Amino acid sequence: MSLQAFRGEYLSVSRDPRDDPDAVRHDPDGLLVVENGIVVARGNHADLASRYPGLAIQHLPGLIVPGFVDAHIHYPQMDRIAAHGEQLLDWLDRHIFPAEMAFADLAHAQRVATLFLDELLRNGTTSALVFPTVHAHSVDALFEAALARNMRIVSGKVLMDLGPDGLADTPQTARAQSEALIRHWRGRGRLGYAVTPRFALTSTDAQLQVAGDLLAEHPEALLHTHLAENPREIAAVAARFPEQRDYLDVYDRFGLVGGRSVFAHGVHLPDRSCARLEESGAGIAICPSSNFFLGSGCFDFAQADAHGVRLGLGTDIGAGTTFSMLHTAGLAYQAGQMRGTSIDPFRALYLATAGSAALLHVGDRVGALEPGQEADFVVLDSAATPLLARRTQGVSLAERLFALQILGDDRAIRRTYIMGQCAWDRDMNR
Ligand code: GUN
Ligand code: ZN
Repeated sequence: MSLQAFRGEYLSVSRDPRDDPDAVRHDPDGLLVVENGIVVARGNHADLASRYPGLAIQHLPGLIVPGFVDAHIHYPQMDRIAAHGEQLLDWLDRHIFPAEMAFADLAHAQRVATLFLDELLRNGTTSALVFPTVHAHSVDALFEAALARNMRIVSGKVLMDLGPDGLADTPQTARAQSEALIRHWRGRGRLGYAVTPRFALTSTDAQLQVAGDLLAEHPEALLHTHLAENPREIAAVAARFPEQRDYLDVYDRFGLVGGRSVFAHGVHLPDRSCARLEESGAGIAICPSSNFFLGSGCFDFAQADAHGVRLGLGTDIGAGTTFSMLHTAGLAYQAGQMRGTSIDPFRALYLATAGSAALLHVGDRVGALEPGQEADFVVLDSAATPLLARRTQGVSLAERLFALQILGDDRAIRRTYIMGQCAWDRDMNR
């Protein structure tokens, strides 16, 4: 049995503070007690320490928040961040599909998976829902590297039988390879499987039906895809599926809309889709840096909130421009501003942690640093840069958190802990 205790300033937001103002938990001088990687107690140091006499206490310097949960990211695209010039469909053709073809080589996939997970840890991200490529071994490469780091990663082979030459599977191979991967990886480490059709435009009707069948046969799997991201994409979906009421309705036709579905973007949704998302329990992974970068638009928080749609946050690397979920929380604020909604910094933290964890159906395991959860956490440094230090001096907690979201990034991640073990220490890697 291994017992650890960490003393420091803790902040977590376990539920959406719009619904529950008591969801914000702040322990200015807190103690976290961890047994075999699981939080067994959390409270004021003064109240809790006497219950653990003789236990060595580690002091953590900074603001400690739950490890970030990235609800939408592509690992094969990390080397294509900052590809200049196009919006979504042309960007895919020119930059992304060629990059993903290189993953036919397992050794390349393994190299990138390693760099990718290390970059997540550098940015304080401990859990993620990840797009690999169409190649089944791209999932193996990612899961093996995640297992080695004990990270909570959900992924699944991309289905895209209408993809370009060299990147297209078939309904049959999609089914067989997905089933083999689900069987092989079930119950291993902290991994989970997501049935992952790329988007409506890259799968035939027959393959979208395979995705629906896989979900029906594997109720523990998530559904992970893109939805209503960019105007030209949305027009192409409407042209191909004239009989469906809207983009979400295409997925509904094949049984892909349910409580375990995660749709990236949802920038341009009719009210009917929002009502259907709420009714089904499906969630949206909002990806503000990607939406800015590809010129897709800005997520409409007011519309989603009016319908009670479940929300999380993603970086969407490589259309996204930052691995930092801290910075992505600040960009969510800026996207909100563009459409008249002012996102509270505690809500932005919720979206980047427990909100995304709920979308991934791991909210009981991570995202809030509550007893019973896995001890994944991040130590933030509000003096990471001279400007941050100046801007956070003598201000309220809300102002400090907001300054970290607007001015912070990987530089503000002092340490990242996975189940109580330090997995990244900025100051040891300078
Ligand atoms: N839609 C279909 N594929 C992709 C992708 O790789 N990135 C983004 N941002 N949108 C997509
Ligand atoms: Zn994406």
